[in-house]
Order: sequence, then structure tokens, then C-alpha cells
Amino acid sequence: MKDLIDILDLTTQEIDELIATAEDIIENPAKYSEKCRGKKLATLFYEPSTRTRLSFEAAMYELGGNVLGFSEANSSSAAKGESVADTARTVSCFADIIAMRHPKEGAPLVASMAASIPVINAGDGGHNHPTQTLTDLLTIKREKGRLGKMVVGCCGDLKFGRTVHSLIGAMSRYEGVEFYLISPEELVIPENVRTDILEKGNIKFVETRSLEDAMPHLDVLYMTRVQRERFFNEADYIRLKDSFILTPDKLTTAKEDLSILHPLPRVNEISTAIDSDPRACYFRQVLCGKYIRMALIMKLLGVE
Ligand code: CP
Repeated sequence: MKDLIDILDLTTQEIDELIATAEDIIENPAKYSEKCRGKKLATLFYEPSTRTRLSFEAAMYELGGNVLGFSEANSSSAAKGESVADTARTVSCFADIIAMRHPKEGAPLVASMAASIPVINAGDGGHNHPTQTLTDLLTIKREKGRLGKMVVGCCGDLKFGRTVHSLIGAMSRYEGVEFYLISPEELVIPENVRTDILEKGNIKFVETRSLEDAMPHLDVLYMTRVQRERFFNEADYIRLKDSFILTPDKLTTAKEDLSILHPLPRVNEISTAIDSDPRACYFRQVLCGKYIRMALIMKLLGVE
């Protein structure tokens, strides 16, 4: 495998191996501190990011490598009209691996076809975010001790939420995973996810408008933000943005070992009063993002 564009590019065995490597890095960081000495990661971010870009950069530094790149399209020759393919071909002359975020679905795939070095999709529009999914899977594995046999609630913007699409794709391949899909009518899961992944895989799922109804059943609650940047008009965003707000009173019916995840950034959808609840995993999840990206960079660079 040269690139990671979609989480389904990885078999569950490969995902389990990446998780095992990440857990070994957590236990033995010094063992990995020279693994990418002399290698360069290019972060090509055409869309804003805090966690993904900085965790990729921290990951490469902690492997002993270096980082170059841009954090907005306007500071690159994209502002002069250069294509993603030409940029990827150019960056292949300077770096050993690319992490790319782009607002257009499919842009990292186009880059991977033009680049002579591995390309990692760091989020493409409302499509996919495979390294967030690897982060989520490592977090769930560490919190629950397993990846199968659980009920996962996905709540919020399930239409444009690329992290949810990737998570459902990945977790559907583990045995005994069921979903509660909690969203407003206007932001339900896309038809292709429903038919190609859930129905085709005979995965049990319930669609509901009520977080309260779903709560008692959940082992994992994956909250998401209603994303202003994906809406075509502001009025719809304003109407839907506060559809679900997780507050302490909503957890009264939750399991004691519920794990609450969120890819972040959060806006309003989780009250800060939840942050001190031991079931809130989202900042531990951020840290998992660095370790799984270290494991992924090593895999794609063929580092033993
Ligand atoms: N989770 C995530 O992708 O965060 P950023 O947009 O800050 O990278």
C-alpha cells in the first residue's frame, strides 16, 4: 500500500497492527525517536486544522524526522491557480511523504496519482478522514479494551461529518458492532453509507432524532460538530447548529462505562461541564492522534 486515502484501504489486520505499534510507541517512545531520521513530511493543508496538522508534525518530529509545508492555500501557488496534481508532483521532489487536507472531495486521491511519494488523506471535504478514524479506533481500543461487540452512537451532523463516515466504515468490519445514528432529519447519514456499508454488511442500526432515547444503550457516544463550512446557507446552519448539546443531565441514563468521543473542535455540542467526567475521552483522543500517526508514517515509509 503506497497511500492512505480511505480507511477501507486498510484491512482490519493492518489497522490492528497500526494500533499495536501505536501502543508500543506509547510504552517505549525512546525506541522510536530515530526511526525517521533524515526523512521529511510535507503537510499540505488547504483548509484550517489544529489537531491533524500539528499532530502529524509532532509525530514526525518525535520519529526524528523533519517537516515542511503550508497551512493555508493562499500561502502556496494554489493561489496562482496551480493544480493539486502539479503541487503533489512538485512536493515529491522535496519530501518523502505528504499529508494533505483539502476542502474538495477526492483531492488527496488526485494528489496520490501524481505524487511519487506516499500521500495521506488528512480530510477531504465531507468525504473521509481516515487518520481521525485510526485515532478514534486507538482511543476506543484503549478505553474499552476491544473494538468489537459494542453499541456506538454517532450524534450530530451525520450528513457532512466525514469523521463519522470513516468511523462507520471501519467499525462495521468488527464483529458485533451496532449503531445508533442520532441526527436532525436534514443531516441524516448519506445514502451510500446506509446502503453500501450498513445494509450490505447486515449491520444493526437505529436512526433516531433523540439523544435521550439512545443514551441508555450506548457503550460509545461519538459527538460531532455541525460544520458551518459545509452549509450553503447561513440560515440552515443557525437553525441546526444546536440540535444536540450534551449536558450533565443527559448522562443520568448513560452507562457508567460510557466513552464519550469527539473529533474536535467542539463549538457548543458538549458542555464544558462534561470535561471533568471520567467518561469524557476527547482530550485523551487528541493524544492518541499523535501516536497512531507515528505508526502510520512508519508503515508508509517502510520503516521497520
Ligand atoms: N479532528 C480534526 O480533524 O481536527 P482539526 O480540524 O483541528 O485538524
